[in-house]
Amino acid sequence: MADDVVLIAQGLARAFGEVVAVDGLSLQVRRGEIFGFLGHNGAGKTTSVRLLNGVLRPDQGHVQVLGLDPTSQGPELRRRTGVLTETPALEERLTARENLLFYAELYGLAPERMTERVEALLEIFNLASRADDRVSGFSKGMKQRLALARALVHEPEILFLDEPTSGLDPVAARAVRRLVARLSREEDRTVILCTHNLIEAQTLCDRVAVLKAGRLMALGRPADLARRWGRNLRLDFEVSGATRGLALSVLRATPGVAELASEDGVISVLGIDRERVPDLVEALVGAGVRLYRVSPREPTLEDIYFALHGLD
Ligand SMILES: Nc1ncnc2c1ncn2[C@@H]1O[C@H](COP(=O)(O)OP(=O)(O)OP(=O)(O)O)[C@@H](O)[C@H]1O
Ligand SMILES: [Mg+2]
Repeated sequence: MADDVVLIAQGLARAFGEVVAVDGLSLQVRRGEIFGFLGHNGAGKTTSVRLLNGVLRPDQGHVQVLGLDPTSQGPELRRRTGVLTETPALEERLTARENLLFYAELYGLAPERMTERVEALLEIFNLASRADDRVSGFSKGMKQRLALARALVHEPEILFLDEPTSGLDPVAARAVRRLVARLSREEDRTVILCTHNLIEAQTLCDRVAVLKAGRLMALGRPADLARRWGRNLRLDFEVSGATRGLALSVLRATPGVAELASEDGVISVLGIDRERVPDLVEALVGAGVRLYRVSPREPTLEDIYFALHGLD
């Protein structure tokens, strides 16, 4: 295992009866990375994460996490990793503080360190004022925040988070995103997460894997995926009203311009290849068009996601 590679999956496959949930998944994750799994409902994200953290055994393939085999070295691995499942089960009859103390003890934190850690997490997750309330009376988002705090109690090197911001209000969701970013950037912890929030994935993840029916459709940095799948580059030209007609005729006559739209003095060229942008600008200016602004709109992860699924 290369020094900075903390997780290796090779040819992972797992079926439930007739349903092939994960089909030949291979990937490597480096220390400090934030790695995201994307995909429709049922695409295999949760199953992939459960295979990676050793909760599920693969039918085929193998996994190595921190140099350990999750199937035979589970207890050691669990001490060094934190998990937030899709539907976390908390001790409902205990208070928030008791829940965290319970897990801190389970993970063998030193008693003097335990209180400090638990109180810090209650603060970070904005639960301090409700620390002595029973969890059974908590809202969905409060339970989610407590479950996240619990996953962090033993300061794990790798975190597996299944939809960490689902059910959170915008303020709490942003706080969680910032926390995840800080864990990665400042503390060099590795985070593997599933999300349906494509904007979240784009801003947070160093790399993403897009799954479809258990298969890996794309894997890479969001910006690289955009370049590879970026056939939908859109270019907006703002031109003077007097030369708008001229601009339209120049653009229509330019090879490679597939589609044009014009609105409020802005002409948009759709489906243009990036390499053609300077030619278009030159053609317009050369013909005497008064050009105020040229702005390319790079494809977002959302565009790529829809393109990968054959959707507009
Ligand atoms: N324990 C299980 N028993 C039977 N089938 C399962 C089990 N776990 C997953 N599956 C099936 O495997 C497929 C992938 O499920 P998985 O939960 O991994 O999807 P997902 O990408 O996490 O979806 P979601 O976005 O809805 O959370 C689905 O068809 C699902 O029904
Ligand atoms: Mg899931």
